[in-house]
Amino acid sequence: MALKPSWKLILSAMTVLVLCTSQATARTAPDASMAEKHEQWMARFGRAYKDDTEKAYRFNIFKENVAYIESFNEAGARPYKLAINKFADLTNEEFQASRNGFKMGSHLKASKVSSFRYANFTAVPPSMDWRKKGAVTGVKDQGQCGCCWAFSAVAATEGINQLKTGKLISLSEQELVDCDTSEDQGCNGGLMDYAFEFIIGNHGLTSESNYPYEGVDATCNAKKESSRVAKITGYEDVPANSESALLKAVANQPISVAIDAGGSDFQFYSSGVFTGECGTELDHGVTAVGYGKTSDGTKYWLVKNSWGSSWGENGYIRMQRDIDAAEGLCGIAMKASYPTA
Ligand SMILES: *[C@@H]1O[C@H](CO)[C@@H](O)[C@H](O)[C@H]1NC(C)=O
Repeated sequence: MALKPSWKLILSAMTVLVLCTSQATARTAPDASMAEKHEQWMARFGRAYKDDTEKAYRFNIFKENVAYIESFNEAGARPYKLAINKFADLTNEEFQASRNGFKMGSHLKASKVSSFRYANFTAVPPSMDWRKKGAVTGVKDQGQCGCCWAFSAVAATEGINQLKTGKLISLSEQELVDCDTSEDQGCNGGLMDYAFEFIIGNHGLTSESNYPYEGVDATCNAKKESSRVAKITGYEDVPANSESALLKAVANQPISVAIDAGGSDFQFYSSGVFTGECGTELDHGVTAVGYGKTSDGTKYWLVKNSWGSSWGENGYIRMQRDIDAAEGLCGIAMKASYPTA
């Protein structure tokens, strides 16, 4: 998938479509030679190459990535660590091409101007972790399907549903992938706001257990779709480019956010407070489920990813909060939104 830069700019300004793949971390013995490391890594992730030429080619990329990750960690110049994971034999360009996508939908609508119900909220606690309040389901993994938009929208919906009803019910991403097809494009990308519109129009969403995740585009199962277990009545956008507005929102419920997750450091993030490198070309949908401050005073957003629990901090990333740029780190404050009950 190659878009000309000019198109990419135009399209990215209009919509955010999200493609991602799963990630997992691996550790190798420090004394293993690089070739042994590569063999161990291949075994761990079940990777096979079609011939020796491809293996040699992939080995060189692996070697460069390992060198980058190790020198990054040894330098210790940043408050976060990287780790060798399943993308260790991909160049960053390949990684981006396989998981970042800006595509124009067939019926793009202008972003709705909505009210912001938390505009005057002042009782913002110093920290928040919606997991501790029982409003966050376990970390999920969308595998090779580029539907993080569905995982992000579902996580925010699971959150508001728990806050409204007291019940935490894991909801169905596959229903969105299969049935929410007027604007969103299943494994080829989508937008969280369109997913909220679908859930409103559909009068609810069914459960994960009733309509389990398959990770491929499939036909909408109308029977499963008709068994609704959680409802939303509307959605609102957080005023763009304001981390203080985002803070008021996250203080009240889990919030869908779009970020630029295309960089090598995001690709290999393992632990700590992520401070970049990243840009603001939004390509990934995730969920802000809290915020806080480390003992040394670094403020962060607590973000739930959908790359399985072996990526990052048990599937989560802490991203630096209140940076100088209004867009927030990796553009986290640019396109945040949430369902209303
Ligand atoms: C916030 O307060 C202002 C001033 O009182 C008011 O005009 C506005 O409607 C309030 N916004 C919300 C979302 O309650």
